[in-house]
Amino acid sequence: MDVFLKTGRLTLRPFTADDVEVLVELDSDPEVMRFLSGGAPTSRHTIETRVLPRFMAGYAELEGPGYWAALAADSNEFLGWFALHPVHDRPGEFELGYRLRRSAWGRGLATEGSLALLHEGFRRAAIAVFAQTYEDNIASRRVMEKLGMRFVREFKVSDEALREGTFDAGAADALPGDDVEYAITSEEWRDLPGVAGVSAR
Ligand SMILES: CC(C)(COP(=O)(O)OP(=O)(O)OC[C@H]1O[C@@H](n2cnc3c(N)ncnc32)[C@H](O)[C@@H]1OP(=O)(O)O)[C@@H](O)C(=O)NCCC(=O)NCCS
Repeated sequence: MDVFLKTGRLTLRPFTADDVEVLVELDSDPEVMRFLSGGAPTSRHTIETRVLPRFMAGYAELEGPGYWAALAADSNEFLGWFALHPVHDRPGEFELGYRLRRSAWGRGLATEGSLALLHEGFRRAAIAVFAQTYEDNIASRRVMEKLGMRFVREFKVSDEALREGTFDAGAADALPGDDVEYAITSEEWRDLPGVAGVSAR
């Protein structure tokens, strides 16, 4: 297996064409999709034609940032994914994202994987990392806070961003509220206590 990074409990590896099934299953849980699409699953067609191709694009070219499948380090069970990817209209910034199976929630895994990715992002090039979530997604907001990110703004997701999302077109229309953005700069990251203890492979 091609491994990108390991933490104490997680292995992050590149996605492959064989990952359709685990992604379909992940996005079939209405609780996982609650603050993304209002609970609607992502269709197999969308995963095959849009999500997985996007996840698999650019590993070599980007040398670090990207979309990574997250496995349990001890069993290699698929737990979900993490992302740290560039955004075309925000040079020097990376967007952080994560989506885990319900069985993996509540054990600090989103925070653990994200910390390792932030470490990678800032070690390589990022001047800032931001993350966005639906306003009512308290677990996701809490992860951002635990990472040392600060609240930046509340905003309405644009139609363009919705079209680029990792769920079916139109699905996010089910969520009437705002999204929120959190961010951390490289200076803020360097000043965080304990950051030196985070190690990537
Ligand atoms: C968001 C998500 C990745 C969090 O994963 P996780 O591994 O459970 O996260 P962590 O354990 O690292 O941290 C979660 C924190 O939120 C807290 N939390 C969770 N649900 C909460 C709730 N309803 N109210 C208050 N706090 C809550 C947890 O207690 C924990 O904080 P703590 O360590 O201070 O106790 C996971 O719930 C998920 O995959 N959700 C579905 C997809 C999704 O919404 N992704 C984010 C979209 S931007």
